[in-house]
Amino acid sequence: MPPVKLSIHADPAGPVIDPHIFGHFSEHLGRCIYDGLWVGEQSPVPNTRGWRNDLVVVLKQIRVPNLRWPGGCFADDYHWREGIGPREKRPRRINAYWGGVIDDNAVGTHEFLDLCEQIGCEPYLAGNVGSGSPRELREWVEYCNAAAGTLADERVANGRATPWKVRLWGVGNETWGCGGNMTAEYYAHEYRRFATYTRDFPDAKIYRVASGARNDDYHWTEVMMREAFKGPIGGPMLQGLSLHYYTVPGEIPWPPAHPATGFDLTGWKDVMALGWKMDELVRGHRAVMDRYDPKETTALVVDEWGSWYAPEPGTNPGFLYQQQTVRDAVLAALNLNIFINHCERVRIANLAQTVNVLQAVALTEEGGGRLVLTPTWHVFALYAAHQGARRLRVESTAKTLSHTGIDYPAVSATASLDAAGAVNVTVCNTDAETPVELELTLADGVIAGCTAQVVTAPVLDTCNTFDRPDAVVAQPLGGVTVKGSTVSATLPPGSVAAFRFAN
Ligand code: AHR
Repeated sequence: MPPVKLSIHADPAGPVIDPHIFGHFSEHLGRCIYDGLWVGEQSPVPNTRGWRNDLVVVLKQIRVPNLRWPGGCFADDYHWREGIGPREKRPRRINAYWGGVIDDNAVGTHEFLDLCEQIGCEPYLAGNVGSGSPRELREWVEYCNAAAGTLADERVANGRATPWKVRLWGVGNETWGCGGNMTAEYYAHEYRRFATYTRDFPDAKIYRVASGARNDDYHWTEVMMREAFKGPIGGPMLQGLSLHYYTVPGEIPWPPAHPATGFDLTGWKDVMALGWKMDELVRGHRAVMDRYDPKETTALVVDEWGSWYAPEPGTNPGFLYQQQTVRDAVLAALNLNIFINHCERVRIANLAQTVNVLQAVALTEEGGGRLVLTPTWHVFALYAAHQGARRLRVESTAKTLSHTGIDYPAVSATASLDAAGAVNVTVCNTDAETPVELELTLADGVIAGCTAQVVTAPVLDTCNTFDRPDAVVAQPLGGVTVKGSTVSATLPPGSVAAFRFAN
């Protein structure tokens, strides 16, 4: 087989890759917040004001840029006032979407925003449209962002003197489904009404994200852009419009039955092909948005993505706890490559969900036990080099694979130029059976040296467990040679690699 040639063009450098495309999502669902990130101040698990220290550390390590909260479907059943003030007085509510468990509102606005400050990320608050009111959302914004007035006074009395100045606000979630079962036309008008009252406060200009399409519902995007993009005085009312797409092998019947581990070659290919479908969806929604907004002022916000498998045997099916394998590492790389390739329009994205739910970056034992990083965490660690860097054009000779009528690349790659002048290249081999000989060429320069890491395992359904936490980690990639402007290397079957060229 001839080598796959990747030619990287550093001149001219392309658009800046917004760090927010590496965002995460944490819902009141299963053990993501409670018995995940949150253990409570009295817990023997080392914590800072209730948040698990070890999790904060590993989220900082991958430079989480933003965290979306409190849902998901939960957000449209959530009333922020129930989560402020003395904890012992907060109401106990049933989490109707996720397992019917009691949520005692121990984690509310102050606690979540404290977590974001500990991680050093921006909060992305999802407002309730489905069962809330414009007034309720308006007051949440004011409570968080106003420097003075009754709601600011209440915030100060609850222990927070300075406004948080939360910038990112979702105006409803999946309003076509759990967020109110609305039509696109109905929601577009609701959006305009809610957006009117989600106001900017001094030094706290907000960024509104409208609830967008599921999968290939281009009609939804069309209606939102037509009806809600332009405000009454011409300026955009939308800063972002969302898209939700999960990689769900064997989607029908619901709930997903495909196993997270123990899959065969067909299961591998299902995930590669369905994962790459994100590219088609982003192109399709971009094309609709381009017609109304050719200057790309409004972002496509992919604020829920990732794999969705059958729940891990023996766990509460309403908690969506699943394992992660090398397959998820490659899926993460494919999606991040797609977002980087479309970074002119995709400027925020959120993997679902941070801890213990769906394609999490970390898993914890019940009751605050051990922590393990998933293969997906290791991919986010490799890709952190792209945050805020300038995208570079990559020409590829990689062949196309095909499965279930979907074409996807055998090798997918992205490259960027960072502030220090170094070129970072991330590449994945989606073929589970065949290694790939790579030739990476820097079209306009000489490569002084190269470091390379790879995430893979000899058996592709290998996962990290509490007893074997390092089965799938990033390791130095051996056999890399540099000659002039070309790096040669072999990518193992089913792998994700990151190269950094010294300048
Ligand atoms: O991430 C799990 C759920 O998936 C979210 O609550 C919802 O928005 C989506 O359907």
